[in-house]
Amino acid sequence: MISSQRGNVFLSCRFSAKVDSMTHDNNLMENSQAGLFAMGTSSHIYLEFALVPNANPAKLVKAAANLEMPRSTVSGSNMVIGIRPSIWALLAPNQTPPQTLDFSEPIIGPDGFTIPATQRDLWIWIASGSPGQAFDAAVAAIDALAPHSVLAEEIVAWSYHENRDLIGFIDGTANPSLLEAPQVTLIPSGSPGAYGSILLFQKWRHDLKSFKRLSVDAQEAVIGRTKQYSEEFEEELLPPDSHVARTTLVDGHGIERPIFRRNTAYGSPTENGTVFVGFSMEQSRLHTMLERMSGIPDGTRDALTFYSTPMSGSYYYIPSADALRKFVDRPDSPSIQWTVVE
Ligand code: HEM
Repeated sequence: MISSQRGNVFLSCRFSAKVDSMTHDNNLMENSQAGLFAMGTSSHIYLEFALVPNANPAKLVKAAANLEMPRSTVSGSNMVIGIRPSIWALLAPNQTPPQTLDFSEPIIGPDGFTIPATQRDLWIWIASGSPGQAFDAAVAAIDALAPHSVLAEEIVAWSYHENRDLIGFIDGTANPSLLEAPQVTLIPSGSPGAYGSILLFQKWRHDLKSFKRLSVDAQEAVIGRTKQYSEEFEEELLPPDSHVARTTLVDGHGIERPIFRRNTAYGSPTENGTVFVGFSMEQSRLHTMLERMSGIPDGTRDALTFYSTPMSGSYYYIPSADALRKFVDRPDSPSIQWTVVE
């Protein structure tokens, strides 16, 4: 298991937790892929690609790195690229965070609740100001990658009432602020894989009818925050199986270990859910959250999982802009030696 391999200890009481006194590295954000922190776009398309048999993974990454997104001062699309961890380790062994693993096995809770493993080889997130822009950018990306890969998953998503999930709750309240997000999200300078990040990407399908049959009080108990204003519960009132209780991580030194989420809504009026897009500087945080949601450590399953079903699960390494630029046809500064598999 990813968390035990890292040897981290996670508890869940945030009320006695200390906030990490993060050392601020001003270079973090400028070296990352810019789209990670770009806000204000309401149209999203997520693409997952699988290598075709005998394809060269370096050529797939190169094709993705050479994609250009349309831009002007008032419109355009952001793009973020993620690579399957085991492929990145092959292409750039010295630039890979240690023990970053593929999502190769399902997570199965004590009652059989299962989070499926659906790892693919390359991930692209396109975020645009309008559905048309996102559509054009996605079609161009699929065409450019077609010689090396097949499209395994495409999800068209959008912002629902600015920042609410389809279940009606504000999503992202406990996210770190944009000033803190790079320290939470990006691997620090000097470490292998610096300025990159680890992504957990999942599609969760909601059972909105069942959730809406609950009273608002019961819905709030499922999430662990109030519905209208996303206010925190008092410590003694927070249900231990609430989503907030299951996903708040505090390490063995009493320090909170957050992640940075960029979730969106997908689907039609009758089939819909959440696209979970969670970034962290440590894979173990993401994996431990999934284990805790499944009830693995203590038998307590996240109440939200009775109303929403995980349809997929993949991890991707998000290289820094500089690391990705090495795959561009004419990179600015080829300072890293790449092991290119021909
Ligand atoms: C059906 C899918 C999901 C939905 C609808 C959902 C929704 C929410 C909502 C409404 C909140 C409370 C407001 C906020 O702070 O954002 C929240 C908090 C949170 N969620 Fe989720 N979430 C989902 C899946 C996940 C998954 C898969 C993870 C982690 C692997 C996760 C991690 C978190 C974290 C870390 C928090 C903040 C907890 C804290 O207060 O410290 N969520 N989520």
